[in-house]
Amino acid sequence: MSKAKIHFVCQECGADSPKWLGRCPGCESWNSMVEETLSRQDGKKRHSTSNGAKPRPITEVDNFAVPRLTTGVGEFDRVLGGGIVPGALILIGGDPGIGKSTMLLQVACSVSQTYGSVLYVSGEESAAQTKMRAERLNKLSDKLLIMTETNLDEIALSANQLKPALMIIDSIQTMYSPEIPSAPGSVGQVRESTGKLLRLAKETGIPIAIIGHVTKEGNIAGPRILEHMVDVVLYFEGEKTYAFRVLRAIKNRFGSTHESGIFSMEEDGLMEVKNPSGLLLSERPESAPGSVVLACMEGVRPLLIEIQALVSTTCFGMPRRMAVGFDYNRLILLMAVLEKRVGLMLGNQDAYVNAVGGIKVTEPAADLAVILAVASSFRNISLDAHTVVMGEVGLTGEVRMVSRVDVRISEAATMGFKRFVIPAGNLTGLKIRQQGLKIVGVSNVIEAMEAVF
Ligand code: TYD
Ligand code: MG
Repeated sequence: MSKAKIHFVCQECGADSPKWLGRCPGCESWNSMVEETLSRQDGKKRHSTSNGAKPRPITEVDNFAVPRLTTGVGEFDRVLGGGIVPGALILIGGDPGIGKSTMLLQVACSVSQTYGSVLYVSGEESAAQTKMRAERLNKLSDKLLIMTETNLDEIALSANQLKPALMIIDSIQTMYSPEIPSAPGSVGQVRESTGKLLRLAKETGIPIAIIGHVTKEGNIAGPRILEHMVDVVLYFEGEKTYAFRVLRAIKNRFGSTHESGIFSMEEDGLMEVKNPSGLLLSERPESAPGSVVLACMEGVRPLLIEIQALVSTTCFGMPRRMAVGFDYNRLILLMAVLEKRVGLMLGNQDAYVNAVGGIKVTEPAADLAVILAVASSFRNISLDAHTVVMGEVGLTGEVRMVSRVDVRISEAATMGFKRFVIPAGNLTGLKIRQQGLKIVGVSNVIEAMEAVF
């Protein structure tokens, strides 16, 4: 017999407790415990689901080549590792308005044109709104079926009848299971709904893509266990005010998590960007002080980004520092290295650093570019327009090795860059043998400054 039981569940991490607590014992957040009724199955019943599988040597396991569904949106397929695997449960998170619904509608339409019906379940927008969007994207297809429903039992019923090639749930926070009394979006509902979708996907082989909202902290709203339940977790990121969007795999049971898809949001939907470096550098002012080109990695893809810095004497007692697309504390640290190790007097200077194009640079390899951009603006001397830099900077001013230098250099070389300032430690392992490239290895910040100014 199943028994309904009152629980208090943390809406941040999903920890539960039999009584209300002001602070969650799991994640220590305040006021996050909410009353929920959970229907629990008997413990015994849970353990009795054996399918009689016997242990066998791994060498005797059959290889299986999964036929993947190629969605036709190249960058999306790339992130998934070459298309959608049948029965896969894919979770896509991202800030509101970033373009999750737009992307999945484009994917849905393109899949429906090649593989037959696709079921797009929207709990957020009406069918007419979704149609308007599809019209705007110029993506109308008879095989694309829209359903505005939030009851998961009804959705599962339709999916079982239709057997679509792909199903989309927009979004998991609007869905509910009637047997759970708590409101849609609560931890209990989200967990139960995802569980139902998981069973549906695995039993029928229909791949399901679920849109999930993110919290203030940037995690997918709902319990962390959600990310464990699904096969693939993707994040769609970008600055809303810029067109540039990056789709990243955080978890992928069918491929690597190093791939990333790059899109730009246009008037008529998301476009795949084939040459992101070209787009990012298109408006670069050549030979302007404070502008440095960085070769960084976006997963396994090299990306050229312009780092800009503006350093000017402060009018107030306290100098201002600001970083956009780069870690603020890292900027402060790098400026301290410049003061102490190079002797630049930055104590009375305001400094602003920007990674152009709304890109977030988190790689340590960006350190050297930031240091040189700040120094270039401070001294009002520009770098040679054909120079690219990379390198992590330590507290003693040493320049540390970075990964995949060859890939970075060859990307920059195809974009017409000729001069490279790289960590000295990377020189020995370098395989690139292209004519006309000047590669300078530097072991500390002073050497780097001498190399570029
Ligand atoms: P949307 O897909 O609704 O975001 P999400 O589902 O992640 O909340 O995207 C909404 C934004 O995208 C909206 O602000 C307008 C913009 N947009 C375009 O710029 N071009 C388009 O063709 C579409 C459909 C949307
Ligand atoms: Mg949406």
